[in-house]
Amino acid sequence: MTSEAIKTDVGSYFISNYPPFSQWSAENVGEVERAMAAPPVVGPDGPTPLGLYLHIPFCRKRCKFCYFKVFTDKQASQVEQYCAALSREIELVSQLPVMGGRPFRFVYFGGGTPSFLSSRQLLRLVDRLKASVSWDEAEEVTFECEPGTLSEAKVGTLKEIGVTRLSLGVEHFDDEILEQNGRAHQSPEIYKVWPWIQAAGFDSVNIDLIAGMVGDTDAKWQDTVRKALEFAPDSVTIYQMELPFNTVYSKDILGGEIETPVADWPTKRGWVDWAFDQFRANGYSVSSAYTLVKSKDVKFSYRDNLWRGSDLLATGIASFGHVSGVHYQNKPEWDDYCGALDAENPENSRLPLGRALTLTTHQALVREMILQLKKGRITPSYFEEKFGVDIVDHWKDAWVEYEQNHLLSLAQDEISLTRTGLLRVDALLPAFFEAEHQGVRYT
Ligand SMILES: C[S@@+](CC[C@H](N)C(=O)[O-])C[C@H]1O[C@@H](n2cnc3c(N)ncnc32)[C@H](O)[C@@H]1O
Ligand code: SF4
Repeated sequence: MTSEAIKTDVGSYFISNYPPFSQWSAENVGEVERAMAAPPVVGPDGPTPLGLYLHIPFCRKRCKFCYFKVFTDKQASQVEQYCAALSREIELVSQLPVMGGRPFRFVYFGGGTPSFLSSRQLLRLVDRLKASVSWDEAEEVTFECEPGTLSEAKVGTLKEIGVTRLSLGVEHFDDEILEQNGRAHQSPEIYKVWPWIQAAGFDSVNIDLIAGMVGDTDAKWQDTVRKALEFAPDSVTIYQMELPFNTVYSKDILGGEIETPVADWPTKRGWVDWAFDQFRANGYSVSSAYTLVKSKDVKFSYRDNLWRGSDLLATGIASFGHVSGVHYQNKPEWDDYCGALDAENPENSRLPLGRALTLTTHQALVREMILQLKKGRITPSYFEEKFGVDIVDHWKDAWVEYEQNHLLSLAQDEISLTRTGLLRVDALLPAFFEAEHQGVRYT
């Protein structure tokens, strides 16, 4: 049942949703339109919590391992065109009946590189957004940054617009590795921006690292982990390098130009395992398969709400969202996205919805269960209360097999992954997929 890939082959992926994205389709867009035109779902604890995601798709360079929708060739006038489209989209979203007067519990500026925007572009964007929405009541406003795009003034701007959680894409501290993998930044830029970030006093600062960048070795990885620890971030996110189809590396491998240059899965897991031990020895605790937190008070509202079935209004090109039991994705092409939201023609603008899928109740259960398993621990009674299903009994064979393989343990109202299980959690999850989704392409 466990997929035991050793080599990091093209097509590996990180499970971030269910059913697989390949099952969403343009024919279902009417379903998300209907969900958006209706009031929010109200559960026993009140209306479903709501978040807002804004995609900023610009980067200085395209990293060779990156699979996100990004552009590196846009002029200032096109950035302006995009910000105008995004503002118009958020104005339309703010008028949807599904908002139902709900405040945003969390807001996430993701990318691409949100910090690619200049302070002036950011302030102008936020001014326009604030005409239709507010995040004053949000418990978290996250903003993703690439080190080389920050200035002291821009860090101040982030604080001024209400950012509470800054996430910095460090990835590695070795300059040759950063260069070889196509990163735009070098390590001195990380050291330069860190004091500004500290001085600004965000509630929480996260550092992203990747285990398995091309060229990495035991010694270089250990050096990176030690340096990251010296920064003492509130949290650290450590990804294992994936090779989805649309990365530069994947295209080179498929084109026969190179052999897979990425370390194999056992090596990457070993590196993450070592990093987890170092951070734990310094007082951090594991909060998911990818994240450690310095103190139990460090929260990650975006992740925790989303993984418990919150709504997420997704804005920006190619963004993924979820409302009232329906998944959707915005159109992924520049002309389609900007064309739908033409600022010159606001009365003709419409939401740039691209594809959708309505979940069955069982699919919603699978989705929440596999996402929460990534935290390393789930509570069966939560699912019994919410979905009326005894998950221990329903997936008995899978739990027993995983327990026998020392990947998890079953206790009274708790299923917890061992460290071995946690480090390969993405390979364990397809066992819980419905039969028709076993073996289908994920993205
Ligand atoms: C949108 S980027 C973060 C902000 C900014 N664009 C940057 O890179 O600094 C999100 C994160 O995804 C991770 N990532 C990107 N491609 C990846 C891959 N192929 N495998 C694992 N992690 C990846 C990187 O750690 C990156 O920091
Ligand atoms: S990893 Fe970040 S900086 Fe690199 S291309 Fe992807 S989004 Fe841009």
